Formats: sequence, C-alpha cells, structure tokens
Amino acid sequence: MKPLYFDIADMSLAGQGKLRIEWAEMQMPVLRQIRERFAQERPLEGQRLAACLHVTTETANLMRTLKAGGAEVALCASNPLSTQDDTAASLVEDYEVPVFAIRGEDRDTYYQHLNSALDIEPTITMDDGADLVSTIHQERTDLAPAILGGTEETTTGVIRLRSMAATNELRYPIIAVNDAMTKHLFDNRFGTGQSTIDGIIRATNVLLAGKAVVVCGFGMCGRGVAMRARGMGARVIICEVDALRALEAAMEGYRVLPVAEAAQVGDIFVTVTGDTSVIRGEHMAAMKDGAIMCNAGHFDVEIDLEDLRTAAEDTRTVRPSLEEYRMADGRRLYLLGEGRLVNLAAAEGHPASVMDMSFANQALCSEFIAAQTTRLARDVHTVPEHIDREVAELKLASMGVSIDELTDEQKEYLSGWRQGT
Ligand code: ADE
Repeated sequence: MKPLYFDIADMSLAGQGKLRIEWAEMQMPVLRQIRERFAQERPLEGQRLAACLHVTTETANLMRTLKAGGAEVALCASNPLSTQDDTAASLVEDYEVPVFAIRGEDRDTYYQHLNSALDIEPTITMDDGADLVSTIHQERTDLAPAILGGTEETTTGVIRLRSMAATNELRYPIIAVNDAMTKHLFDNRFGTGQSTIDGIIRATNVLLAGKAVVVCGFGMCGRGVAMRARGMGARVIICEVDALRALEAAMEGYRVLPVAEAAQVGDIFVTVTGDTSVIRGEHMAAMKDGAIMCNAGHFDVEIDLEDLRTAAEDTRTVRPSLEEYRMADGRRLYLLGEGRLVNLAAAEGHPASVMDMSFANQALCSEFIAAQTTRLARDVHTVPEHIDREVAELKLASMGVSIDELTDEQKEYLSGWRQGT
C-alpha cells in the first residue's frame, strides 16, 4: 500500500477523534445506509475524490462512505478555523484518509493544503465555498480535463460557481448540493440556527433572554438564527436589503430596521448575508458598550475587521473565541471567532442529524457523477429530484415517521380540471 501523505496537528488526538466520529455516526442513519450499500456496490471504484470541507466528525463519516464506495479520497479544510484536530488525526490513523488541515492554519498553509489535496489528481471534486474549484481554475488548470464533475455544499460557493458558468469560465460540471430541498431547507435553517446560537453561547455564556439580537440577512440561514434566538427569549431585529424577505420578516413579527438603526439598539449582532462589509465602522461607532458581533456567513468579510481594528485603541482575548476591542471613547466591542463562521469556530458546526441529509446528498451526487456515460454540460446543475426525494424518504423512515399516500380518487382529482364548485 502507498504510504499516507498528510498534514495534521497532532496524531495523539486520534483516540478522542474516533470516539466522537462514532458518536456522530449514530445520528447519521441515512448516510450509514448509503455506506452499507456503497460497500456492496462500489459505485465509486476507480474515482479519485478531492474534498474541501469543514473537517468535522460529520465530514469524517462522509469520507468513510466515499471510501466504502471505492473512491480514493483526500481531504483539506474549507476554513482555516473550523478543523477539529482530533477528527483529522483519527481520519488519518483509523480510516486511512489523507487529511491536510490544522485548526488555526494561516492563509498560506490553507492554500498549500488545498493544493496537497489536489495532488490526488481528482476525477471528482467536493467543495464547500468553491475554493477548490477556484484554485483549479486559477492555478491547476492542468487538472480540469480529467475531472468528471464536482459538488458544491454551500450558498456562497454556488453563487461563485454560477458566476463562473455565466462567463463560460467553468471547465467542468458542478452539482449544487446546496440547492437540494433536503439540504438548504434543513441544514441552512435548523443547522445554522442551532449551531450559531451554540457558538455564541459557548464563546460568551451570555443569557439570550431579553437581549436585542440583530440578524443581518433573512435567507434560510438568517431565518434559522432568528427563529432560534427568538425561541431563547431574545428580541430579534432583522436587517435586509431585499423587499420580499424584509416583508416576510415583518409579517413573521420581527422588527425590521436598517443596520444603521439596529446598531444603536442591538446587544448581539449576527451577520448571515453572504455579502461583504455588512457591519462597518460607521455602525460600530453607534454600538453600545458591550455589543457582541459575530458572523455565520461563509467568509469572514461580513464584519469589516479592518474598520474594527483601525477604530480600536487596544485589544485582548477575554475567553477562547472572544476578543475585546476597546474604542477611543472607552466603549468595548466584542468579536467572536475572529469574524469567521461562529458555529464552527466557537462550536462544532451543525449537528450530525442534519448533516446526515446534506452529506447523503453529497454521497449520492458523487455516485451520480461517476455513473454518467455522457458528460454533463459545463454548468451548475440542480440535484436530480430522485436523489432529493430518496434522502427525504430515508430520513423520515429513520425517524419512524410515516405519511399518507394519495388514493386513486385523489390522484385522478389532482390530474383533472373538470370538477369545480
Ligand atoms: N457545515 C456546517 N456544519 C458542518 C459540520 N458539522 N460538518 C461539516 N460541514 C459543516
């Protein structure tokens, strides 16, 4: 067997990592069933799969599934601060997965790791944020011809890829896993909702009840955060740029304000828009002493960190993942997880039970890509409906939930137009 080439923080953490990977697996029954089938059918035999994902226990179970399907895999991190070093160690030691990821790695190491994963010369890529695809298109174009297709996990990545496709720069087809119903309606909403609140609480231990929580962005992720913050007794304020979403938020009973006004009243600010410079210096200047800021969007661009650093006279780390910035006027503003994804930087990301569906889609879409006899067009494709439906059905069955079936009379009624009043 080839020697394993990898770069991780500390191999002695493998034992702890394995326990946690097994614990997560208990909450991932859909992925487990797919793994069992993959082990029999080996649909990924002969494929080399480079994955750039958050290195968590849930991702570890996806890697096990892809390997069981016959793929040779290599894994690097999709964020410098989301790697669970014990998981990375166990993946190398117990599951023979080459991992290139160290929590807290600098930008250069992050990109070196990405390139190391690409050295596998993939036939399939799996991305969360499109950094792998973007590196292939800018630095490793020689790899593109052999790639059958790729998958993309998140909204930000899909937006980047669609813009590549729009200018005809995308060199191979991508399946937008994010856009599957069984992904974004659950992972983005219930996953981000719970794990963002989890990150805020682990970093600060503040009581949410009675606090003014400002959520910037009312997409699926923002909805989840708002819903869970409200459930904890917070007074939730929504900031939006889209009239329809703002209207929805208002009719859901949230207070809707522009960021400049919310800045004056908020206790905790969460950005989850996918866009840049949402909270800027002018907003920070209006914030109360003690205001807490964090980001749950993919990149660390939503809170203007440059503005925060420029305005601060002094900074100190108060607790893990919690930095204090002292302003010239004496006010103290707080930043969680360096402005990176707070749910992964300060907590453990989405719980396994919801990643079960996202990663079931990933596994089934890799199988779909490998099974293509004629190449898919160089475009961003939606997840085939039968995959989305299969994931929903398997998840419901695993939860012991049964549903009704249409009677013949009902089917006929729905397919006709003659019957009215
Ligand atoms: N994205 C959000 N939560 C995650 C998790 N637990 N594992 C992998 N990717 C994630």
